[in-house]
Amino acid sequence: MRPHRALISERTIPLLPRGVQLRHDFARQRWVLLAPERVLVPDVFAHEILLLCNGRTSVSNIVDVLAQKHRADRDVVLRDVLRILQDLQDKSYLTDRGSFEGNEGPDITRLHWQDTAETARTGLTSANPLPIAALAEITHRCPLQCPYCSNPIDLERASSELSTAEWKSLIAQMPGLGVLQIHFSGGEPLARKDLVELVGHASAAGLYVNLITSGVLLDREKLSALANAGLSHVQISFQGTENRSADHMAGFRGAQSKKREAARLVREVGLPLTVNAVMHRQNLYQLTDMIEMAVELDAARLEVAHVQYLGWASKNRAALIPTVEQFQESTRIVDAARERLKGVLVIDYVIPDYYAIRPKKCMGGWAKQFFNITPSGKVLPCHAAESITGLAFDSVQDHSLSWIWNESPAMRKFRGTEWMNEPCKSCEFREIDFGGCRCQAFALTGDAGNTDPTCAKSRLHEEIVALATNEAEVDIRYFDYRNFRQDLR
Ligand code: SF4
Ligand code: FES
Repeated sequence: MRPHRALISERTIPLLPRGVQLRHDFARQRWVLLAPERVLVPDVFAHEILLLCNGRTSVSNIVDVLAQKHRADRDVVLRDVLRILQDLQDKSYLTDRGSFEGNEGPDITRLHWQDTAETARTGLTSANPLPIAALAEITHRCPLQCPYCSNPIDLERASSELSTAEWKSLIAQMPGLGVLQIHFSGGEPLARKDLVELVGHASAAGLYVNLITSGVLLDREKLSALANAGLSHVQISFQGTENRSADHMAGFRGAQSKKREAARLVREVGLPLTVNAVMHRQNLYQLTDMIEMAVELDAARLEVAHVQYLGWASKNRAALIPTVEQFQESTRIVDAARERLKGVLVIDYVIPDYYAIRPKKCMGGWAKQFFNITPSGKVLPCHAAESITGLAFDSVQDHSLSWIWNESPAMRKFRGTEWMNEPCKSCEFREIDFGGCRCQAFALTGDAGNTDPTCAKSRLHEEIVALATNEAEVDIRYFDYRNFRQDLR
């Protein structure tokens, strides 16, 4: 039966499932709700409700408790509780324990009173912002060869990877620095034999643990071990919906069927699932099917992400960049699906930068909320930062994580707004997008201190749009596949 939007009523027995966790954030001294790619800060009333979303208390009882506690009109409290819980339900951050037999409800959930940007601005105990999330690229090894991979062109070899003990020491430093979430990624993180051990270590340290994987190395045994070690959520990337073209894009025969099976197993072991769909000129015609596939796979969330043209994707831009018409059509499809699938599937949408008017707030600002660790232990403000020549990134092999975050010259270089030139320097949006993406500014202008040319205020903007539209008209179908032998095509 096709899933449908669940309506919250007084009979609902709300439960925060595994993928959504209410935790005390000691570094910032407040409560947070952790969910896939989200850190949310509930207000006092929402926090009181969340504490009662325990799978044993009905909405009716929650309302009774809160009305009595605050000596408030029950109807007013009921209206507010229903509004907040329905909002959570529609974002897949909540489930109704009453609608499931047995002891285990399915895993999903999220919420949004304040988003991560707000989180980073309030209650800080340091002169610098505190990092919210870390991307641990534990290896660059991967059986797939996607030509838009976000890894650097110069991939790090297995021989340079941090050891298990080094990763564990590094992970242990994260909570003290303010990190709430860790994303294990790669390459393919399952290419390392110690992933279960690292997940267990991160979970025991109190981190929300996400796995970003191609899925092709996952089986039931590994998934059960990861779930038992404390994994919170799984994100599986898909190259398309059709076996032949998706396998061609991945450079791996049989990838698509393995991914579908892995997604099924993720749900079978009770872990929440995000489908990551990277879209480009050659697979955009499959977007409607991709959305249907995410529903069919019982994903709580779908990321429709147009390719970002950095790293391997910049090498293959001419074969990947969509036409303006394709981009507009994809936006229309996503908007319609969001409306149609409200309460069933949350869809996040990342547009192709080159067709934007305003640039994205890349990484939430340089070294503001996020850092990336390469397989050998270099700490970067984003996955593509090493493409900026002239910046030297420090390694956890030489310094503590705290020193690197707070003192490393490369991390401080573009933090905040002091570094900006015009037009960003005097722009009303400078605290909103922080001048866009530094790596893109470097790739397109040769100077990372320039305004990201995807911004309409950049003097290069028209040129970039023309470049994109011209490239999109040329029929190129071959790729430089991502692998350790860069001479392969
Ligand atoms: Fe953002 Fe700079 Fe463009 Fe203003 S000029 S919108 S700060 S990128
Ligand atoms: Fe590096 Fe945007 S990817 S700042």
